[in-house]
Amino acid sequence: MVNFIVRLVILLLVFSSTTEVFGSNICTSQGVTTCQRCLAVHPSCAWCSQEEFGKGGSGASRCDLPQNLLVAGCSKEAVEFPTSTVTIKQDVPLSDKASGTADDVTQIKPQKLRITLRQGDAKRFTVSVKQVEDYPVDLYYLMDLSYSMNDDLARLRTLGNELAVAMGRTTSNLRMGFGAFVDKTTSPYMYMYPPEAITNPCIGISDTCQAQFGFKHVLSLTDQVARFTEEVKKQQVSRNRDAPEGGFDAIMQAVVCKEKIGWRPDASHLLVFTTDAKTHTALDGRIAGIVQPNDGQCYLDSNNIYNKTTVLDYPSLAILTEKMSENNINLIFAVTSYVVPLYKEYSQLIQGTTVGTLSDDSGNVIQLIEEAYAKIRSKVELELLGVPEELNLAFNATCLKGEVIPGLKSCSGLKTGDTVSFSVEAQLRSCPKEKSRTFTIKPLGLKDSLEVTVDFACGCECEAKAQVNSPHCSTGNGTYECGVCQCQQGRLGPRCECSVEDYRPSDDNNCIPKPDGPVCNGRGDCLCGQCSCHANDFGQVWGKYCECDDFNCLRFKGALCSDHGKCSCGFCQCDAGWKGENCNCTTRTDTCMSNIGLLCSGRGNCECGVCQCTQPGAYGATCQKCPTCPDSCTIKKKCVECQHFKRGQYTKDDSCSRICKDEIKVVVELLFSDKNAVNCSYKDENDCVEYFQYYEDESGKSILYVLKEPECPQGPDILVVLLGVAGAILLLGIVGLLIWKLLVTIHDRKEYRRFEEERANAKWDTANNPLYKGATSTFTNVTYKGN
Ligand SMILES: *[C@@H]1O[C@H](CO)[C@@H](O)[C@H](O)[C@H]1NC(C)=O
Ligand SMILES: *[C@@H]1O[C@H](CO)[C@@H](O)[C@H](O)[C@H]1NC(C)=O
Ligand SMILES: *[C@@H]1O[C@H](CO)[C@@H](O)[C@H](O)[C@H]1NC(C)=O
Ligand SMILES: *[C@@H]1O[C@H](CO)[C@@H](O)[C@H](O)[C@H]1NC(C)=O
Ligand SMILES: *[C@@H]1O[C@H](CO)[C@@H](O)[C@H](O)[C@H]1NC(C)=O
Repeated sequence: MVNFIVRLVILLLVFSSTTEVFGSNICTSQGVTTCQRCLAVHPSCAWCSQEEFGKGGSGASRCDLPQNLLVAGCSKEAVEFPTSTVTIKQDVPLSDKASGTADDVTQIKPQKLRITLRQGDAKRFTVSVKQVEDYPVDLYYLMDLSYSMNDDLARLRTLGNELAVAMGRTTSNLRMGFGAFVDKTTSPYMYMYPPEAITNPCIGISDTCQAQFGFKHVLSLTDQVARFTEEVKKQQVSRNRDAPEGGFDAIMQAVVCKEKIGWRPDASHLLVFTTDAKTHTALDGRIAGIVQPNDGQCYLDSNNIYNKTTVLDYPSLAILTEKMSENNINLIFAVTSYVVPLYKEYSQLIQGTTVGTLSDDSGNVIQLIEEAYAKIRSKVELELLGVPEELNLAFNATCLKGEVIPGLKSCSGLKTGDTVSFSVEAQLRSCPKEKSRTFTIKPLGLKDSLEVTVDFACGCECEAKAQVNSPHCSTGNGTYECGVCQCQQGRLGPRCECSVEDYRPSDDNNCIPKPDGPVCNGRGDCLCGQCSCHANDFGQVWGKYCECDDFNCLRFKGALCSDHGKCSCGFCQCDAGWKGENCNCTTRTDTCMSNIGLLCSGRGNCECGVCQCTQPGAYGATCQKCPTCPDSCTIKKKCVECQHFKRGQYTKDDSCSRICKDEIKVVVELLFSDKNAVNCSYKDENDCVEYFQYYEDESGKSILYVLKEPECPQGPDILVVLLGVAGAILLLGIVGLLIWKLLVTIHDRKEYRRFEEERANAKWDTANNPLYKGATSTFTNVTYKGN
């Protein structure tokens, strides 16, 4: 007994901290009466399906935390408590290199997952993606052969081999193919008069060109690059009547005619689309009386010509996107500058496309394709296919340097061989009808994918053993299920023993929430002392006094819980990725990420996915604009370095064009341009001081005026140095001489004084002056012998 009480107290302590106190927690407080509803209340709730439970006046709820149920006497087998789990079913490690063939290359890990989810519960898993090196490439060149592309065709004839060589630097396994398009072969897109114009539409303007066609597949993908050049050489331009061309028809056929084009399943699929004109899109066919929508099927006849060109309308962007994703096509719009803005718009709408500016004669197409391919390979973006509506997926990306970017499902600026990972959280918002569903997470443009099977743990096992018209429930008045009777309409009570006919007014006291209040809050009838809540057109009503419902919650713009949450008894329970009283606040932060990789450029807070700039003077979607901020000079300095001098950090990591969008103007002198302009200066790597002025106009366009001549420290003047050195030597010499002279003079004086002193001291004998020598000298002649 003591043991039991101790256990009870521990349980009490544990659960009072997570939910509420024992006896009234999130599971019990809602007064639910069926197993399924109980599981829906909260992922921590369990149901006891035991027949004898809560008898003897204890009044325990069958819907409770599992521990409480056990304590209250429910046997372990009778506790219905499905839990959410994640199991990895297939987990082949990522490959390093494709070594030219891509047969068993793995670029995503894991490959198969199985998740069991309770309603409201969330589970997390991690997906890693690595683009292998030397992946095979299929390149299909789709060319506009309308008349204005004449010079482009001439140029392409010479470029085939170079293109192969250039692409060969990125892959050792390249296949190239070629196709051409003009427009639908019917009026008003086509020259029909004079009748000869049908076969030679260039009649009258040049010698010959080929008859107009919709889309023509010329060369299937092949590794014999010479064939490409050969086939392109055979081509001739054609001519159509209106300015826009039928390129989208061609893209659709090139995407879906897998066999004819020869797309390999295990290769990067590049579809290069070159044109100098606008394009027709869905519904444009109506002017020619073509109303049948494009069905996204392949219609190449035996001559490899699109034979439904005059039957089906142009495809819509939606169906193009869908088919491209299905076939892993990376579309590259290589278009002339005049139409670049238009195709950029298309590119925004069609996932996985890039746009490059084609020079007038397509001379730069190789560089453009190389760049586009590098761009494609430098980005990993996850794509979701067939995600059930009831499932919420939230992502965090871990791109380079291990830094986690919340809310992002793509990484850019990668090199091939880099591994990135994404943390994915799957949350089940509500229960769908089916028991399980499978969906796919796939990096855009790669064939590899992760298959996720979700089992919805929404039902109870005991439901399978339900007895209709069970003897437990006053024979014929209810269904016995999961330990309780589900009574038929007009019956109530644990055993369906009460009926409307047995109504006794005295029972009403049990059904009144507060004195003088209405019975069952006016939303139900009191039967045998219990509220039987009315069905309501808006939704469910429940609770002991029918006080709860799932339709009275905060709304935002008319949507209950902003459509991002579940209304439960007056409160919004927000889906993953949303928060706030009415769930209108996203927890995403990728929208706040500035292009220098700081949330709100470090000058504000990200609230509900929108930057609230706190730094005075800062503005812009990511607070990126702030000429008057103290750090603006530091940030813009890097842009001056990379845009003007082509050096510095941004040049090294290739992020200059992404981060710096300023216009550089080189000036001889910095002038006063605006009161919002700031003067900046910094010391560059050569120790020169660079001056620039940073200014943003009304529209937010930023201009950097860079002073032409930096201020560099003056180098020493040779002549001055020489003269200086010579002067110094001279000076030293003179000083040396002077000192020597001085020393000698002092020495002489000293000697002379001593001599003077000595002379004064001597008692001179006049006859014997030591200095005096007699004027006569006596010589002795040694040979003289006295004669
Ligand atoms: C068009 O081509 C398909 C094969 O892709 C063929 O079944 C169909 O008969 C052709 N239609 C015409 C009108 O040639
Ligand atoms: C993403 O990161 C945020 C904050 O760092 C965290 O709260 C959230 O749970 C993470 N989500 C996933 C799916 O990992
Ligand atoms: C419901 O129960 C009552 C009393 O137990 C019984 O008389 C009646 O026949 C039952 N109703 C049905 C539809 O079987
Ligand atoms: C969310 O709703 C509240 C209350 O209606 C409103 O004040 C707020 O601006 C909304 N937030 C967003 C991000 O829409
Ligand atoms: C920037 O320097 C120039 C030239 O010294 C001066 O005329 C201008 O007023 C300065 N601008 C600001 C905003 O201080």
